[in-house]
Amino acid sequence: MESKVLSTGIRYLTVPQSYIRPEPERPRLSQVSECKHVPIIDLGKDINRAQLIQHIGDACRLYGFFQVINHGVAAEMMEKMLEVADEFYKLPVEEKMKLYSDDPTKTMRLSTSFNVNKEKVHNWRDYLRLHCYPLDQYTPEWPSNPPSFKEIVSSYCKEVRELGLRLQEMISESLGLEKDHIKNVFGEQGQHMAVNYYPPCPQPELTYGLPGHTDPNALTILLQDLRVAGLQVLKDGTWLAIKPHPGAFVINIGDQLQAVSNGKYKSVWHRAVVNAESERLSVASFLCPCNDAVIGPAKPLTEDGSAPIYKNFTYAEYYKKFWSRDLDQEHCLELFKN
Ligand code: OGA
Ligand code: NI
Repeated sequence: MESKVLSTGIRYLTVPQSYIRPEPERPRLSQVSECKHVPIIDLGKDINRAQLIQHIGDACRLYGFFQVINHGVAAEMMEKMLEVADEFYKLPVEEKMKLYSDDPTKTMRLSTSFNVNKEKVHNWRDYLRLHCYPLDQYTPEWPSNPPSFKEIVSSYCKEVRELGLRLQEMISESLGLEKDHIKNVFGEQGQHMAVNYYPPCPQPELTYGLPGHTDPNALTILLQDLRVAGLQVLKDGTWLAIKPHPGAFVINIGDQLQAVSNGKYKSVWHRAVVNAESERLSVASFLCPCNDAVIGPAKPLTEDGSAPIYKNFTYAEYYKKFWSRDLDQEHCLELFKN
């Protein structure tokens, strides 16, 4: 019987038609170069804070993404998170299908591709999507198999949240804003997680794990396994592969930070490609403004006479728009311009 998810343990010999991109939209993997200058920012204690903030500002302005090391999340925690993700995807498909849903409004679900009911072509990915804040509210609905899942993932979520909020303070300062400006605008932020599984793909040139997209939230903290590079970022019109760096998280600016920064910081296009031999896991943690947060260019950034590029909108409005579209359409923020 045909399965809705890809993580069945059975290897495909060819890519089914519904996953094949039309010729002009294919990844052209031979044209991708490895990103040699990806900023790796050391958040260790002995760093000069002013300099650190300068580096973060440069990375946000020039790349829209960077990696962090010595970030305070223990290496063991990161390993455990990837291990339990791996165990989850190795469960029998019948067990996993108990959690399956293609309804994007569900707060806990296993799904596949991106938005199976809306999209024209599917993506070579399964994902487990969880809400993670407040933890007490959401952990009861999380998978109880593997048995250690809830405990490991809760601890991981707490640590990652702290890191994310600390980064938002530094990003705020790097824009010349008060340390708490961004956190205040976003209110009590939600936290979501996507545990992504990309099975080996017999024809990686024909499809994507995730096609080019920007993240609709505030800030994304991505943990990728070290087996194989899959994440690529668009820089000056070229796709660059981000080689996993041991112990690092990849941080990317989401659409909401681009809006607050009045376009100074870029929510960059990124995508995940798949690999013929190797499976790949990644764990994306998203910090999301609260639903009624009113988002728009920060006042102090437009007081020098630069016009606000974006309208004010609520995060709820934005999120609804995002999920009503295909992933690889124009930048969703374009729809909120003045
Ligand atoms: C995402 C994402 C990239 C990856 O989940 O939004 O961009 O490498 N993931 O899995
Ligand atoms: Ni993304």
